[in-house]
Amino acid sequence: MPLVSQAAAFGLPSLGVRAAGPRVALRAPRATDVPEARRFLRRNAEHLRPWSPVPPAGEDPSSLTEISKAILRQRREWKRGESFIFYVTDSARDDVILGRVALTGVTRGAFQNAYLGYFIDVEHQRRGLMTEAVTLATSFAFVEAHLHRVQAAVMPNNGPSMRLLERVGFRREGVAERYLQIAGRWEAHVLYAVTVEEWGGRSPAPPPPPPPPR
Ligand SMILES: CC(C)(COP(=O)(O)OP(=O)(O)OC[C@H]1O[C@@H](n2cnc3c(N)ncnc32)[C@H](O)[C@@H]1OP(=O)(O)O)[C@@H](O)C(=O)NCCC(=O)NCCS
Repeated sequence: MPLVSQAAAFGLPSLGVRAAGPRVALRAPRATDVPEARRFLRRNAEHLRPWSPVPPAGEDPSSLTEISKAILRQRREWKRGESFIFYVTDSARDDVILGRVALTGVTRGAFQNAYLGYFIDVEHQRRGLMTEAVTLATSFAFVEAHLHRVQAAVMPNNGPSMRLLERVGFRREGVAERYLQIAGRWEAHVLYAVTVEEWGGRSPAPPPPPPPPR
């Protein structure tokens, strides 16, 4: 007998979903985001380069054309349940993009898994905002998208990202050699995952972190 996917049984999350925590909100990209998304990518080009794949020759991912195409593709994949890509915005200002969290490569059947990726604006690091955003996205994966497992891969020299995942509740699974081609090199990655059993009935967003010491 074929496996009935849980997504089909429960219905897919709508593109209008908004997941809000105390300081950030997650929502799907919209066509009207193109100029702000371009400013974000241009401002963060150097910050993101060491952690990103090299774009295809002659393609500028921060051009208006490429961003428009990407947003259309992301909305199409969302409607098909293939990926759920969110802009991270200020919870009081839905139009200000602070970062991005992605649940991609959604696989149903026996796996019920998605791959997690994320980045935040260089000027907004170390405020606990991505900890909040990843908590919201993981909760969305289990509660709204009815997945069983969320997986992430981090380069071993990316201490802040590994500590973030461990803080949120991801479990280190091991090292995958030559796993992803990042900045032009096949890089080993530390694999992390969390399943719905481990996540349990956690609240979707953690409380705000304490203020930094003076
Ligand atoms: C990795 C990355 C996403 C972290 O995002 P972030 O928003 O800075 O993460 P957080 O603020 O939630 O946590 C980072 C640190 O800030 C600290 N922090 C949290 N709130 C704080 C506050 N109010 N004041 C000072 N520090 C604070 C956290 O304790 C944490 O410290 P630690 O790393 O020493 O444990 C970000 O650096 C980034 O975008 N890097 C480039 C892209 C990238 O590496 N993506 C991931 C690829 S796997």
